[in-house]
Amino acid sequence: MYKQVIRPLLFRFDPEQVHHWSFKAIGLVYRLGLGPLVTKRFRKQDKRLEREVFGLTFPNPVGLAAGFDKDARLFRELSGLGFGFIEIGTLTPKPQEGNPKKRLFRLKADQAIINRMGFNNQGVDLAAERLKVPHGVLVGGNIGKNKITPNERAVSDYLYCLKILYPLVDYFVVNVSSPNTPGLRELQDKAPLTELLNTLKTAGKAHAKAHSTKEKPILLKIAPDLSDAQLQDIIEIISSTGTDGVIATNTTLSREGLVSEPELCGETGGLSGRPLERRSTEVIRFLYENSKGAFPIIGVGGIHSPEDALEKLDAGASLVQLWTGFVYEGPSLVRRINEALLKRMDR
Ligand code: FNR
Repeated sequence: MYKQVIRPLLFRFDPEQVHHWSFKAIGLVYRLGLGPLVTKRFRKQDKRLEREVFGLTFPNPVGLAAGFDKDARLFRELSGLGFGFIEIGTLTPKPQEGNPKKRLFRLKADQAIINRMGFNNQGVDLAAERLKVPHGVLVGGNIGKNKITPNERAVSDYLYCLKILYPLVDYFVVNVSSPNTPGLRELQDKAPLTELLNTLKTAGKAHAKAHSTKEKPILLKIAPDLSDAQLQDIIEIISSTGTDGVIATNTTLSREGLVSEPELCGETGGLSGRPLERRSTEVIRFLYENSKGAFPIIGVGGIHSPEDALEKLDAGASLVQLWTGFVYEGPSLVRRINEALLKRMDR
């Protein structure tokens, strides 16, 4: 139904407009009281799907990746579509518009997306207000810095987001890998990254004490465009800073192997979807093998089928996330991945 009817219709319109409409439609479905029906259709409930990772219990290993529900406007409804966890953000201290439109492009022939959104978000304070409503959804808070904040002061932006979200999310993601905020990826270099992660870890300990809660896991989200030497540095930094895990990967700057129209492929921004699948799995495998499984990895990038998800889990990921595949394949992809996992366990 999704691929035959809904997708062809939606793909006739501007992608960002469709994202906006989809949010409205999903919200409306729930306001009309149809939520339980949706959940019944899409959520796979089975104790065997549960995963214990970073000290948290995930109802199933398939999550929604950051950037879909940046402002925490729909995380409960989206969780009803069967996701085991929802990552909100990237959030910044101050609200910001992001880059001028048009900034989101579908590469249909490649089953891919190019985006240069640029951390458009309403700011961490507003998201925090929304998260205060009791919800029972496992939520990750993906945090970043405002565009106008120079890299030398980036740490204070991350610290502010950590403080505001501390009692409200289950884990944190330090995003230093978006290609759409000028200079952000430089924070992946050894010295600034070590400083950033050490500072956040120390602050996290203090917040946990102040809120009388367990320390919240802090993960690092990395780009797929790092070299082996840089990935080796990441392994060392994760261990030396006590960071709890890695999300691999964000979008890529590479345009290798694309078959879409050259004007589309030439759009500035991060590429996601099918063409990213192989590289992101390679990164997961490299990190897992070279660290000897020292830290949990959330695998994301180009998952468009249950087989893609299983491949990432086999490469060493403990959990997976979707974004582009969710748009191309529709919500049933989440259920299909969970069903494939159960089938494999049966075998
Ligand atoms: C993203 N992604 C992203 N990641 C992040 O850490 N913070 C963000 O704000 C965003 N924003 C965003 C917007 C759009 C339009 C897309 C398509 C993607 C990256 C996303 O979370 C994921 O890492 C990549 O898209 C790779 O996964 P998929 O899309 O291939 O499943």
